[in-house]
Amino acid sequence: MQTERNVPLQSYNTFGIVARAHRLVRIGAEADLQAVLADAELAAVPKFVLGGGSNIVLTGDVRPLVLKVEVPGVRLVEETDKLWVVEAGAGEGWHSTVEWTVQHGFPGLENLALIPGTVGASPVQNIGAYGVELQDRFHSLDAIDLQTGQPFTLNAAQCAFGYRDSVFKHVAAAPGDFGLAGRALILRVRFLLPKPWKPELGYLDLERRRAEEGVEHPTPRQVFDWVCDIRRAKLPDWRVVGNAGSFFKNPTVSPEQCADIIAREPRIVHYPMPDGSIKLAAGWLIDACGWKGKSVGNAGVYEKQALVLVNRGGADPASAATGGEVMTLAKAIQTSVYERFGIRLEPEPVVV
Ligand code: EPU
Repeated sequence: MQTERNVPLQSYNTFGIVARAHRLVRIGAEADLQAVLADAELAAVPKFVLGGGSNIVLTGDVRPLVLKVEVPGVRLVEETDKLWVVEAGAGEGWHSTVEWTVQHGFPGLENLALIPGTVGASPVQNIGAYGVELQDRFHSLDAIDLQTGQPFTLNAAQCAFGYRDSVFKHVAAAPGDFGLAGRALILRVRFLLPKPWKPELGYLDLERRRAEEGVEHPTPRQVFDWVCDIRRAKLPDWRVVGNAGSFFKNPTVSPEQCADIIAREPRIVHYPMPDGSIKLAAGWLIDACGWKGKSVGNAGVYEKQALVLVNRGGADPASAATGGEVMTLAKAIQTSVYERFGIRLEPEPVVV
C-alpha cells in the first residue's frame, strides 16, 4: 500500500475544480483497503471514498484520507433462461460498463448510457435516466465496512433505494440505525438483466426518436445509440465543459401545492407519481427564473439545460470555477426558485 501526498484532484472530479487531497490511497482490490485498516494510524483517521468524482463539489482541499476506488473487471457471473447477472468492479467507468454489456449481448442497462462516473457510485445515487433507474436492474453489491473491515453483501431491499437516494446517503445516528454514509466502500456491483430483453421507450424523447427512425422493434444497440444522441444534444460533455450532471433533484409536491402553482404558472412541467405526489421539472423552474446562461464568476448555468451547472473557466487552474463559485450560484438559484414558486430545491451532488 502506498500513501500519496498532496495529490491534485482536478482531473478526479468532473467539474474540473482545483483542489488537493492531503493523502490518497488507491484501492485496486480488497487487500489494499485491508492494509489501510490494518495500519493503526490510517485506520483511525476520517476517510473519504472517491469514485469517478462525477457527483461532488470540492470547496477546498480534502483533509480526510481519500480512498480512490480503482477495483477493475466486468464479467458475466450467472445466466438462466430468465436473466443474466453481470458483475463489475467499482472502479470501472459506468459508461464503458454499459457499452460492454450491450456489446456482449447482455442488454438492459442501455437507457443509462453516458452517465458519468464509476460503477461503485451508481448505487449510491441510484442513478437514473430515460425511464430506468439503477434499482430496476440491481442484483447485489459487495462492500467493506470502513470501521470494522468486515466485508458484507447487500441486496436491493437492503440498499433502500429511492429517487437519487440509497442507504449510502444516510448517516446512522446510533449503532444499528439505518444509514451507511461514510461507513462503506463498495467493491463490486452485480446487475440483474431480465430475459427476454424489452426496450424501455416510455420516456417521450426516446419514443419520439423511435417514431422518427420508423423502427418498430429496436435493438439494444439502437436504444443505446439513441440515448447517447439525446444526452449529447442536451447535456455537456464533462471532458469539454466541467459539470456534475443535474445539480438539483426534481422536487415533489402534493397535488394541492401543484394546483396552486399551476393556477399561477399554467406551463409548469409536472409528472404525476405512483404515490399520488407530483414531480416538478427543476430544470423548468430554474429556466423560468431566467437562469439559463447566467454565471457567478466562472461557474455558470448551462445554456441548453438549466438543471446543469458548469465550469466555464476550463481546465486552466487559473481560470477554473471554484467550488465556492459553484455553491454561490447554486444558493442564488435556490433563493430565486423559492421566492417565485415557494419550492426548495435540493442539490444532488455531495459538497465536500
Ligand atoms: N426543461 C426546461 N428548461 C430547462 C431544462 C428542462 O424547460 O432548462 C424542461 C424540459 O423541457 C422537460 C423537463 O424540463 O419538459 C424535463 O427535462 P429533461 O427531460 O431534460 O429531464 P430532467 O428532469 O431535467 C432528469 C434527470 C437526468 C436524466 C433525465 C432523463 C434528475 C435530477 N435529472 O432530468 O439525470 O438524464 O431526466 O431521464 O432527475 C443526472 O441526474 O445527472 C441527470 C442528468
